[in-house]
Amino acid sequence: MLSLPRLPVPPPRLTGHDVDTGAGAGRGSRARAVLRRREQLHTLSDLRPKSQTRPLFLPAGVDRASRDGPVGPKPGCRAGRRPVTGSGVGRGEECVPGGDAALCWTGEILVPELAYVNGVITPLEEARVSVEDRGFQFADGIYEVAKIFDGKLIDLDRHLARLENSARMLELPLPMPLPELGRTCRDLHARSGIEDGVFYLQVTRGACPRVHAAPPGLEPTLVMTTRRLSRPLPEKITAITVPNNRWKMCACKAIALLPTVLAKHAAVKAGVNEAIFVGDDGLVLEGASDNVFCVKDGVLHTPPADGRILEGITRGRVLELAEERGIEVRVAPLPLDEFRAADEVFLTSSVLTVVPVVALDGRPVGDGRPGPVSTVLREAYWDFMRRFRDVTDSPNPSGSSSPA
Ligand SMILES: Cc1ncc(COP(=O)(O)O)c(C=O)c1O
Repeated sequence: MLSLPRLPVPPPRLTGHDVDTGAGAGRGSRARAVLRRREQLHTLSDLRPKSQTRPLFLPAGVDRASRDGPVGPKPGCRAGRRPVTGSGVGRGEECVPGGDAALCWTGEILVPELAYVNGVITPLEEARVSVEDRGFQFADGIYEVAKIFDGKLIDLDRHLARLENSARMLELPLPMPLPELGRTCRDLHARSGIEDGVFYLQVTRGACPRVHAAPPGLEPTLVMTTRRLSRPLPEKITAITVPNNRWKMCACKAIALLPTVLAKHAAVKAGVNEAIFVGDDGLVLEGASDNVFCVKDGVLHTPPADGRILEGITRGRVLELAEERGIEVRVAPLPLDEFRAADEVFLTSSVLTVVPVVALDGRPVGDGRPGPVSTVLREAYWDFMRRFRDVTDSPNPSGSSSPA
């Protein structure tokens, strides 16, 4: 008889069945069981010499000082990152992916990009949702994107308050009360150990056989991911204007983003960084994924949050910072011809922060360089992020986190 070579036994894979705690078990206990199990299973022993067996996931609340070490790829690692030098307030690190782009070195430990799906935390590339999920079938869901800066989740409470508002607009149930959702976000971020990156959260109405009207009693699907910034942020950008072909509920941060995708494609085709939506009435609304501001004769202008735009968290902070600095602000409908004649234009978003637009529709804005008001507000926003302290578990989500 032919003797077959003995194959190595693969490491155990974790699935929902492995950890199901039985009928009636809540999502919380199941999630805890999954986490305990994963922490036991995933050690660095398969990636590093046998003598080094630190957990792949950082325990929540790990001490940064004891964790941080010299930055740079270590011998034998499969991915790395290198500092990117540049002028201005933006700074970053470039990912230098090797065999495993989801794992990057930061000092002494690997920083994994993580995903959370309904209570199960996995490396990002292993995360899965059902093809029957209504997010996949109908874009029936909402989302939030928060910045991770200096190890902090910037303005998470304001993002969660907006998520709650989006959910209310679509009569979409959230998977857990807001304070618990906040704790779950912070726990995932702490486990990832990511210092600078993007936190993504999405809630869909759940999975069911494909039928437009959702049956009652669906369990919402909650997905969260933590990702590192793969490129340094731009210090200035270029833009075009495009017709606004979006729906009428733009105050809701819905995952149905096809007009945004097409606008971004138009920008790429035009060789610029961003597209700015202009209504049929000639009013400037917002960027495809950011809010717009312009400056004329020292006065800061931005369109109102009247339902035709998303009320950006960064926009709100920038308006507060402008007021604190005595900059005159006019929140009012913004005609395209006034916008084009502005001395300065800039965009705001959680990921981009505050970024000047130096060319619009192929023509320079002002003298084609970032203007003084944009620069002051960009510096002010970065200063705000540096001073930001996250106050967790507040009963009042919209006002709990603040600069120290
Ligand atoms: C259409 C739109 N407007 C504005 C923003 C900026 O919002 P925030 O500052 O909360 O990131 C975004 C962000 O994704 C967006 O998609």
